[in-house]
Amino acid sequence: MDNTDSSQVALIREAFHYQSRFAGSTMVFKIDFPVLEDPSFPILMRDLALLSKTGFRVVIVPGAKERIDSVLKEYDIVSTYLRDARITSASAMPFVEMAAFHVANRLMTGLSADRVEAVIGNFVRARGLGVVDGADMENSGCVEKVLTDSIVKILGLGMVPILPCIGWSPAGRPYNLPSDEIALAASSALGAVKLFIVSVHDGLKADALEGAGIPPGAVGENGRITRLTPQEAEEILKAVSARTETLPFMKKVRSELKLALGASKTGVERVHLIDARESGSVLRELFSNLGSGTMIYADEYESIRPLKTKDIADILRIMEPLMKQGMLLQRRAGDIQEKKEDYAVFEIDSSIHACGALHDWGEGQGEIAAIATDPAYADIGLGRRLVRYLIDRASKQGFRRVFVLTTKTQDWFELLGFKECPIESLPERRQKKYDQARKSKAYALTLERLQSQQ
Ligand SMILES: CC(C)(COP(=O)(O)OP(=O)(O)OC[C@H]1O[C@@H](n2cnc3c(N)ncnc32)[C@H](O)[C@@H]1OP(=O)(O)O)[C@@H](O)C(=O)NCCC(=O)NCCS
Repeated sequence: MDNTDSSQVALIREAFHYQSRFAGSTMVFKIDFPVLEDPSFPILMRDLALLSKTGFRVVIVPGAKERIDSVLKEYDIVSTYLRDARITSASAMPFVEMAAFHVANRLMTGLSADRVEAVIGNFVRARGLGVVDGADMENSGCVEKVLTDSIVKILGLGMVPILPCIGWSPAGRPYNLPSDEIALAASSALGAVKLFIVSVHDGLKADALEGAGIPPGAVGENGRITRLTPQEAEEILKAVSARTETLPFMKKVRSELKLALGASKTGVERVHLIDARESGSVLRELFSNLGSGTMIYADEYESIRPLKTKDIADILRIMEPLMKQGMLLQRRAGDIQEKKEDYAVFEIDSSIHACGALHDWGEGQGEIAAIATDPAYADIGLGRRLVRYLIDRASKQGFRRVFVLTTKTQDWFELLGFKECPIESLPERRQKKYDQARKSKAYALTLERLQSQQ
């Protein structure tokens, strides 16, 4: 099997892993109106239809703000605002309803093209905002309740419920509601495992957020921040809030982050911020743990942990090509099993993608070895974080120094603070095992120095 074949097999394996994990669970898609105007829209609809047909329970919440703005403008109706909330006057309300249903209808049409049935419904009970700070909010409302029983029945029939930005009071009076609020309430009430926030802007790009405390290794190939814990997202939200004036799309990013954080607080395990212009972004985010947007995860998503016997096949799969290329020493399952306690693995969504070990050679020195990263997961900080974990482990175990023996990775270890050292400075037992033919170079890190640097 050549490299292309094996990477395709790995991709298929990964897709099956996620299919079995999430099929049957509810996912809410908040889709901004500008997405509908973008050439990528039919592709997005095809992907959502595919998800619905293959057993995912898809709920759509369309954002209609820009469409409402343009309809009101067309009919010469001026909107007034209280802070960011539109005051929907009685004269504007019929036009707001018209725009909201037009948007919902376009989504339904998009799904029909892929033979998926959808239902636009009165699934949200609303309440008027009344008078706020002396301003009569008229027909602007808030969500009182999401009627989950009806939505669940529709999902059970394999159809897609669409929740426009209109809600009704128990007396049947319509109110204009913020679609973010509907998406949040629906995700929470339906126990959604995921909320996708789909828009068409650059989103959380590292270069635009320099100095905002982006965690190391969280930046993907397209420069987008790939994954954040809610705490990290909170920090970025603070930084983004301070920059609203300088970058126009930051206001949008801020409201998306607020929605994402709100959803993770109410128990949605994962929120994905997606740019619809990136082809297949929803599928990539769902079926690969690298994704292409930004994921805010409140559940256990990635961790470094000690090796279990069942992981040995996985780490051999990662190490095998590197052993063949001579980058790593030859090891068999039995060798790893024997030193099982020394190993640690990097797990992402229940799959192993990197490994490493810390061997005790006495004299207060530990060897960091067998560091290997799955090539599909290279350059996102797994190797670095594993080495840091092993250094921390060495420090806790009372080692005074850690070292590595390497033939090709000296520059990388130097970046991590290691310095070349003579073979004679290694523990005697290790010197005796030194492979003269391999001629590896030794690099070491003194742990006292590391602690004083922190
Ligand atoms: C070295 C290795 C573990 C790095 O894994 P990783 O998870 O991709 O590492 P990180 O994401 O933390 O770091 C990647 C950075 O190091 C750089 N890098 C990777 N290998 C390097 C090397 N051999 N020399 C110098 N820099 C290297 C990358 O270009 C990247 O740079 P960037 O951050 O500027 O983009 C991985 O390439 C590997 O498995 N190598 C083969 C096995 C090996 O040599 N192990 C070490 C001997 S124990």
